[in-house]
Amino acid sequence: MRVVRVSADAPARAALQEAAELLRSGGLVAFPTETVYGLGANALDERAVRRIYEAKGRPAVNPLIVHVASAADAQTLAFDWTSAADALAKAFWPGPLTLVVKKTAAIPSLVSAGGATVGLRVPAHPVALALLAAAEVPIAAPSANRSNQISPTTAQHVVDSLGDDVDLVIDAGATTVGIESTVVDVTGAAPRILRPGMISLSDVTRVVAGAEIGDAQPGSAAPLSPGMLGKHYAPHGVVTLFEAQSHGDAAARARTALDRGRRVGALVFTSLGLSGVQEFAMPADSREYARTLYATLHTLDAAGCDLILVECPPRTDEWTGVRDRLERAARS
Ligand code: TXA
Ligand code: MG
Repeated sequence: MRVVRVSADAPARAALQEAAELLRSGGLVAFPTETVYGLGANALDERAVRRIYEAKGRPAVNPLIVHVASAADAQTLAFDWTSAADALAKAFWPGPLTLVVKKTAAIPSLVSAGGATVGLRVPAHPVALALLAAAEVPIAAPSANRSNQISPTTAQHVVDSLGDDVDLVIDAGATTVGIESTVVDVTGAAPRILRPGMISLSDVTRVVAGAEIGDAQPGSAAPLSPGMLGKHYAPHGVVTLFEAQSHGDAAARARTALDRGRRVGALVFTSLGLSGVQEFAMPADSREYARTLYATLHTLDAAGCDLILVECPPRTDEWTGVRDRLERAARS
């Protein structure tokens, strides 16, 4: 595995050309997007796509997002480009939004995990866009971590998680959005949010009326996003959420764990006031919180924390994506 460092705003052509060649010849290239680093392969090359699943240890039932350079490119891969897809693409692309549409036969069934739909996204990162332009193929890319680990927001996270299973890592520093894209199914009568993100329900509703948060429970009528099931985005230690009014209980819990010789970390808005806890004062702004969340969890993970106490953010629209990731990390 090689790591090549590029400028986030003005990446060197030579580095991107090399990465593009690698992709066209079936290689795996990890690259930055505005959300998290992706593990990319030529989406039209089934053998290359198979390597993604192998490198991640990802079950073949979980479909991949295909990254494209423009909405026009997205349309060539969509069997049906609905007015909702068009409106959302115009409003939010390039950006942290994935649109699930009916796919054409050009998309290998391995990419869609055998399904009739594909998730498409135009990322808002100069390096990702330059790579797509140089590669001249759509790039299938899940987050560049092993399955069930925390998504990478730096190149070092990718190296630590995937090692030699990736051919090249393009390092352009830390990502800015920090959690994965909002996934919206636009195949039905109304848009359905399958995975919340920093583009919120009210952002989507402002563009297309009647949007709702999908219920990704098995057996429900809602279209299923397989990646939404089970434990996900989880560090090794136990993550426990607590409400702001339960600081006393959380502090008691931390003290008990410390007394038993456990390592304790915390993500809080107000300090627990306990020495011995590796505590992070988290931003009160949801965007800044999202930007630092995974790096903070990675740090506590690397420090070998057995217990990570997390103060719940508010239950408001702009926090839905962050809350979703915290709840997933706490589910084990
Ligand atoms: O921000 C992101 O979305 C990042 C960057 C690299 O673009 N990618 C990412 O990919 O998070 P991944 O594979 O880790 O998560 C993709 C999510 C999964 O929950 C998957 O089940 C869902 O999107 N998904 C993908 N294609 C789908 C489809 N056709 N139908 C329903 N859900 C789909
Ligand atoms: Mg992922």
